[in-house]
Amino acid sequence: MASRLPSMTLPTHAGIDLDLPPAARPGQSLAEVDTPSLILDLGVFERNVDRMQALADRAGIRLRPHAKAHKCPDIALAQMARGAVGICCQKASEALPFVRAGIADIHISNELAGPAKARILAALARHARISVCVDDARQVAALAQACAEAQVMVTVFVEIDVGQGRCGVTDADAALRLVEEIALHPGLRFGGLQAYHGGAQHRRSRVERREAAAQAAAKAGAVVARLQAAGMACEVVTGGGTGSVEFDLASGVYTEIQPGSYVFMDGDYGRNEWNPATGFGHSLFIASAVMSVAPPTRVVLDAGLKSMAVDSGLPLIKQPDGGALRYVAANDEHGIVECGEGTARPGLGEQLLLIPGHCDPTLNLYDELVGIRNGQVECVWPVAARGLSR
Ligand SMILES: Cc1ncc(COP(=O)(O)O)c(C=O)c1O
Repeated sequence: MASRLPSMTLPTHAGIDLDLPPAARPGQSLAEVDTPSLILDLGVFERNVDRMQALADRAGIRLRPHAKAHKCPDIALAQMARGAVGICCQKASEALPFVRAGIADIHISNELAGPAKARILAALARHARISVCVDDARQVAALAQACAEAQVMVTVFVEIDVGQGRCGVTDADAALRLVEEIALHPGLRFGGLQAYHGGAQHRRSRVERREAAAQAAAKAGAVVARLQAAGMACEVVTGGGTGSVEFDLASGVYTEIQPGSYVFMDGDYGRNEWNPATGFGHSLFIASAVMSVAPPTRVVLDAGLKSMAVDSGLPLIKQPDGGALRYVAANDEHGIVECGEGTARPGLGEQLLLIPGHCDPTLNLYDELVGIRNGQVECVWPVAARGLSR
């Protein structure tokens, strides 16, 4: 697919017509890609996507991957082609490029506050099946009004807090009151429960994650039972991320999982302990170049804070096992690399591949994702939902 920004046209003054050449073109070698650029190893990416779909299919559970990780319609289409039932987005505006790309079923796995966002949602619902979360009757009222004005129908999930302490009602009676509230409005349909435990995803040991996931599932199951006792069928229980998926699939409570990061496996997720049968590979890299070899024991890369998120740690450097290069500090536009004792220092202009600590906010820094196969650029995919956080 053609890139959204094949070249950037700068403002023209006094007849100056200057274009920034694209960072990558299909057919180029990886070494020719300009830096810093966001790189996708297509072989590893495809294995990750296939593996998650196979896990969900084997368990008979619907896979609705989270698009907040990639913000890229081409990736969403690849997930749908393999059997995903739809996607999740985290913000109403984030869904827009996916609706434009023809994704017909989008769950906003988050609460929206206020009429402006409810109106964006109602506008999306003219073109796709849209669902959204609530944990407060005022959100229900704003959605009902926007749906009535736009004459559309939106499906509403009640979010329950299953351990994260973020959004979601904390008890079954509060959930029941919201379901009753939703039922009052003809433009709203109760879809089920969302039960997502973000705090469980990055606990390093599988035992800790299994325990946290079991507690989340037990809490969700109790709310389902409470609703059923009151005559409210709960068709869907959605939730779960990359770190808890193997337990959510076996829980008997979730009918749908919404992992996102598995397509990339960032540096932070790489530090989790994985079941080899459910592990995923690093597919996402930042191509960065050595811009200075002036310091005696270090080299300086051209990728710093403006090229990657470091909230989950500094990037790792892709190198053979035992490689002694360490990315030790990120400045705005510089990355400082220590070269261990006896290690050959990379030369000026040499390209290094970095594994970012946290994929989601890193993707949000780039317009394009450069797909590589066998060392060559195969595609350049727009990160079309980049910056859409309303
Ligand atoms: C509600 C919700 N669902 C799913 C996910 C996906 O989680 P992960 O990227 O860890 O797979 C997230 C991520 O933060 C989330 O907030």
